[in-house]
Amino acid sequence: MARTAVGIDIGGTGIKGAIVDLDSGELLSDRIKKSTPEGGEPDAIVAVVQQIVDELGLDDASVPVGVCFPAAIMDGKTLSAANVSKKWIGFEAEKLFETTLGRGIHFVNDADAAGYAETRFGAAKDVKGLVIMTTLGTGIGTALINDGVLIVNAELGHLEIGGKDYETKASFAAKERDDLSWKHWAKRLQKYYSHLEALLYPRLIIVGGGVSKHHDEFLPLLDLRAEIVPAKLRNNAGIMGAAALAADSNPAF
Ligand code: BGC
Repeated sequence: MARTAVGIDIGGTGIKGAIVDLDSGELLSDRIKKSTPEGGEPDAIVAVVQQIVDELGLDDASVPVGVCFPAAIMDGKTLSAANVSKKWIGFEAEKLFETTLGRGIHFVNDADAAGYAETRFGAAKDVKGLVIMTTLGTGIGTALINDGVLIVNAELGHLEIGGKDYETKASFAAKERDDLSWKHWAKRLQKYYSHLEALLYPRLIIVGGGVSKHHDEFLPLLDLRAEIVPAKLRNNAGIMGAAALAADSNPAF
């Protein structure tokens, strides 16, 4: 029988969940997707997560559940909140999920989960040296992976360029908001990724998020020293990584 875990990926726009095969990374259930409640408040988000877990029909309490969230996370607390309610700042988030769901969970940053999944199952598998995972969505998520080891809570989507928190200029939400062509958006991405690589010298940059399925439209327009590739796991990387991290951090599993 396949070793499985549940992954839930909370984003600024949508909340997705599925059961994951831990050996292959494949999804073993439908991917359930719901909108993130307006305002992104803790109680409303937790209620949606509960609905998703219920719909997945988990009878077995020993199946690990991983939840990833768009904030820096330490000791189960959310320390930041860029595209969700400010109530999450300094909030005992993991505890709220555990109490509501009535089971233990593993709680991590969403880009870290995506980076972990790409390292286990995708574009960063067996890559030596520094890889930077980036997710282009409502915000810009980043994860650092060095020699296959994840360094958590890199918040490099908020790099300040020209006095601006650059996720507000180069995220996919910014492309939509400003109605940018691929070419115009690519100019902003060029600025962002050049800055990133001037500071960190990665060997490989991975581009994830829903828009990565259109990578042919914008990745060829970028001129960078590092290799830059689309995420292999596309928009499921957060779900897969949250599930895999939950299982790998569970000594009983
Ligand atoms: C948050 C990050 C998150 C990223 C992608 C940013 O606004 O600060 O924690 O990883 O959005 O969701």
